[in-house]
Amino acid sequence: MKNFLKKITKNFQSNKKNLVKKKLGFFSDSEGILNRYLREKENWESHIQNTKKFILEASANKQKNIAVILGSGWLLDVPINELSSQFQKVYLVDIIHSKQIKHKISKMPNVELIEHDITGGALEGVYNLIEKYNTSNRQQLDEIELINTNFGLPANVTPDFVVSVNLLSQLDYFALAYLKKHTSFCPISLGEFKERIQKTHLEFLPKLKTCIITDYKETVYKDNNPKEIIRETFLLKVKFSDKEIANKWKWTFDTQKSYYTEGNTFMNVMAINY
Ligand SMILES: C[S@@+](CC[C@H](N)C(=O)[O-])C[C@H]1O[C@@H](n2cnc3c(N)ncnc32)[C@H](O)[C@@H]1O
Repeated sequence: MKNFLKKITKNFQSNKKNLVKKKLGFFSDSEGILNRYLREKENWESHIQNTKKFILEASANKQKNIAVILGSGWLLDVPINELSSQFQKVYLVDIIHSKQIKHKISKMPNVELIEHDITGGALEGVYNLIEKYNTSNRQQLDEIELINTNFGLPANVTPDFVVSVNLLSQLDYFALAYLKKHTSFCPISLGEFKERIQKTHLEFLPKLKTCIITDYKETVYKDNNPKEIIRETFLLKVKFSDKEIANKWKWTFDTQKSYYTEGNTFMNVMAINY
C-alpha cells in the first residue's frame, strides 16, 4: 500500500511537471532551438566552437570527479565527448531532454540526464500563481520561492566543475512570457522578477568551480549592415567584473529575419570564470 501511494504521488508530480512544462512552452522551444540551428548552421559555427573551447579551457584546472552542465539542451555547444572522458561522471541538467539526446547519452555510461527547473521553482510558482490563485497580486509574485535544490543532483553529490551554458539570459523567459500573457503585472514588477531569477542563479553556482557562457545584448541590424542598428536590447540584470570576463564574441543568430522581421539579429556573448 505504501509503495502504491508512493507511485501514485510520483506519477502525479511527474504529470504536473509535464503540464507545467507544456503550458509554459518548453516542448516547442526545444524544437525551436534545433530548427533555428539547422537553418543557421554555418553562421552559428564560430559561436559553438568558441563555447566548447572555453568550457574545455575552464575545466583544465578543476578536479575531475563530477561535472555538471546546466542548460545542456541539444548539446550543440557542449564538448560532451571530451568532458565524459575527462570526468568520472557528467550530469546534464535541463528542463527537458529530447528523445534524441536520451538515445545519444544511453551510449555514454558515465553521463546522466536530469530534468529540473534550474531557477529553483520560478516555473511552478508562476504556473500556480495563475492556475491556482488567478492573481496579479505583486506580493504573491514576490513570495514565489526560489530554492537551492542543487540542480536536482542526487543528495550528497558535490560538483567539481559547473557550466552554465547559454542559459542565464533564457532562465526567466518562459515564466515572464506566461505572466505577460495571463496577468497584468507592470513591466517594473516583471523586471524585478527577472532580476531575482538571474541573481539567484548566480547565488546557486559554486564560486571558483563555475564557468558561464551567456549572451548579454541582442542587436538587430538592417540588411546585415553593422552601421544601421535598428534595435539593441540588454539581456542581463546582473553584472560581472572585468576580471571575471575572460572572452567576448559575436554570434550571428538569425539572418533570415525570423526572430525579428525588421532585420538580422546578432547576440553579443561573454564567457566568464566565476
Ligand atoms: C539557448 S539553450 C542553450 C543551448 C543548448 N546548450 C543546446 O545546445 O541546445 C538554453 C537551454 O536552457 C534550457 N532552460 C531554459 N530555462 C530553463 C530552466 N528554468 N530550467 C532548466 N533548463 C532551462 C532550455 O531548455 C534550453 O535547452
